[in-house]
This record gives sequence, C-alpha cells and structure tokens, in this order.
Amino acid sequence: MTKVLVVGATGHVGREVVRKLKSGGHALRVMTRDRNKTAHLELSSDEVVEGDLRDGASLAAAVTGIERAYYATPDPEDNVAMLENFLAAAKSAGVRHVVRLSARSADLNSREDLARRHGLAEQALERSGLAWTHIRPSWFMQMMFSYAPGGRMELPGGEGRIGWIDTRDIADMAVKVLTESGHDGKCYIISGPEALSYSDLARHMSEATGRDFVYADMAPNIFRERQLALGEEAWSLDLDMQLYVNIRAGRYAAVSDEFEKVMGRPPTSFARFARECAEELVLQLD
Ligand SMILES: NC(=O)c1ccc[n+]([C@@H]2O[C@H](COP(=O)([O-])OP(=O)(O)OC[C@H]3O[C@@H](n4cnc5c(N)ncnc54)[C@H](OP(=O)(O)O)[C@@H]3O)[C@@H](O)[C@H]2O)c1
Repeated sequence: MTKVLVVGATGHVGREVVRKLKSGGHALRVMTRDRNKTAHLELSSDEVVEGDLRDGASLAAAVTGIERAYYATPDPEDNVAMLENFLAAAKSAGVRHVVRLSARSADLNSREDLARRHGLAEQALERSGLAWTHIRPSWFMQMMFSYAPGGRMELPGGEGRIGWIDTRDIADMAVKVLTESGHDGKCYIISGPEALSYSDLARHMSEATGRDFVYADMAPNIFRERQLALGEEAWSLDLDMQLYVNIRAGRYAAVSDEFEKVMGRPPTSFARFARECAEELVLQLD
C-alpha cells in the first residue's frame, strides 16, 4: 500500500488530512518537530517521526519508505530553503510525488511577499524532478475559530470580500490527489462557493450560533500595534499587513469552480460551516 507522509500534520489543513487518511484506511506517517503536539491526532507511536525542515539531516527517518508526501508550512523568509531540504531528502529516499499546500495568490513575480514566496516554492518543487501537485486555496473558514475573541472581529479588512474555503474540503482534495493517479503536474486553484466580507461572516456566525458576532473595521496601523503587543511575530504580521491591503482593495474576491470539477461536489458554504462548527465558534466568546 502507498505510504503517505504528512509534513505540517499539526497545522490547520494537515490535521484534517491525517484524519481523512486514517478514516480511509491509508498507511501514513507524520513528521513534526515535537511528537507531543500530535497527541490529539490519535496516532500510534510508530506513525510519528520527529524532524525539522531546517535540519536536513533530521529528515531521513521521515521519508524512508514513503511514496507520496503532503507538505505545508508557514511562510517565513527561508521557506524555499526548508522545502529544498525536504526535496533533497525525499529524492534520495525515492519519494515519487509531493503535494504542496500553496496559496491562491501564488505568483513568482508578485510584489506581495507571501504570494512571491509561494511562487518561488512552487518553482523549486517543479524543478526538483519529483512529480508534483500544487493546491492553491483561498482563505480558511477555520480562521474564524480565533478571529473574534469576545464576539468582536476587529480586523483591517474593510468591506473586502474573500472566497473563504473550509479546510476539510482542502484536505478532501489533498487526500484524493495523494491516493489516486492523474494529478501529477496539476495546479488546483480552489475557493468556497461565494465571496463574503467580514460583515457577512459575522452575520452568518450570529445566525448559526444564536450569539452576537460583530465586525469592526480597524485602522491598519492600530491593528499592527495591537498584534505586536499580543506577541505576533513581526515577520508573520508584515505578511498579514500586505494581505489586508489587498483584501480591502477587493483583490481576493474571485470564486473558482475548480473544487467542484475535481471533487464532483460543491465546496462547503460558510453558512453550513458556521452551523456545523457552531460549538467551536462560540468557544471564543467566553
Ligand atoms: N490561513 C489561511 O487562510 C491560508 C489560506 C491559503 C493558504 N494558506 C497557506 O497554508 C500554509 C499553512 O498551512 P496550515 O495553516 O495548514 O499550517 P499551519 O497551521 O500554519 O501549521 C504549520 C505546520 O508547519 C509545520 N512546521 C513549521 N515549521 C516547521 C519546521 N521547521 N520543520 C517541520 N515542520 C514545520 C508545523 O509542524 P510542527 O509544529 O508540528 O513541527 C505545522 O504543522 C501557508 O503556506 C499559508 O500561506 C493559508
């Protein structure tokens, strides 16, 4: 049976990829920097391997005996170096195919750092000689589990709309790509079924939970100061600030039908996500 490695298994999408691989009966292994972080994934100890993408020598145990890998990390400045460490180890172990979580905006020539970093990483994967698939999702609905502490969503997003997508849908697509043939060399650009503003999200969350959620547009400079005071790392916040400029300008509002074409079903709407995940959404109110 194909053995799948999940890099980024403790992340938003990776944890769903792990659940779906397990429930489908697929042989898998996950790589993490700290095995204690995988406790909630209910894996056996031999399904978990410790490794750090910044330490190439630590990756051999993770890739040995693996045929296909799912790969997702955050987007620091050395994201390509981390990926290249992984690709070198994967190639020497005979891994055949890497499915990488990218972003909707990925673009080698973009002036936006996040888009350019994803574009460069996609290029590195394509040049690696391994089979590849890029999954380029829009923004994750599950970010709403932490975006509205006390029910107030204070963000500098204006009334810009986004084609929010459910991470469970992204994971469904990743598992399909990882476990069947025909996806080599493909780039799937996916979104949810509709573009919604933060005000729309607050309305849906209020309806689904029967509790009050409100959106308050925040001046970008005040938001930046608040996030730094809350301990967000400057490199990550700098990426976010560029994204909010584009959100306000409505540059992420496009909706794609590629998910339905590949998966044979429509993506989850935000209203349904909010109903299904109402219990998790209200956790941030108390
Ligand atoms: N948030 C959104 O709305 C959105 C939308 C579109 C695209 N994206 C893209 O999605 C990607 C992030 O995916 P995600 O949100 O599922 O992941 P995530 O929640 O950001 O988690 C990051 C994962 O990366 C792993 N990781 C980080 N540094 C590592 C290292 N040095 N060695 C090994 N593993 C390392 C972590 O593993 P351990 O901590 O267990 O080691 C963790 O599982 C980013 O590229 C982002 O641009 C996000």
